[in-house]
Amino acid sequence: MSGTPKHPLLLVTACALVDADGRVLLTQRPEGKSLAGLWEFPGGKVEPGETPEESLIRELQEELGITVKPACLAPLTFASFTYETFHLLMPLFICRRYEGIPRSMEGQTLKWVRPKDMRDYPMPPADIPLIPFLIDLL
Ligand code: C5P
Repeated sequence: MSGTPKHPLLLVTACALVDADGRVLLTQRPEGKSLAGLWEFPGGKVEPGETPEESLIRELQEELGITVKPACLAPLTFASFTYETFHLLMPLFICRRYEGIPRSMEGQTLKWVRPKDMRDYPMPPADIPLIPFLIDLL
């Protein structure tokens, strides 16, 4: 097998930020973005030169205004999903300790949700298979 892959790979990191009651923070993709209105785990694209952890720490600071130490991020599982124009690989990390109170830095709506209730929140297709991992863990 050789040749150019049909779908370029896109590496995105995501975080299950967990509160003291075992709820996980979901953010709603804003109008004007792809998949607008869907709920997702906070995170974003890994930029060239970044490790997944560095990328996620940057994204959590930019999106939610919180500071996370590398030792407070543990890999849980990953999503792998082919969209129309790219293939998404998305490690999901779990984080229970962080500095600051998550707030919307980019106009997105935030919601703390129990994993068993996540199916009430429409999510991108890549994110949906991650829910059972959180139900089992939390
Ligand atoms: O967030 P951003 O738009 O940079 O993500 C790029 C693409 O990755 C999105 O258009 C979406 O298709 C996919 N994505 C996803 N689930 C996420 C984050 C991104 O499927 N939690």
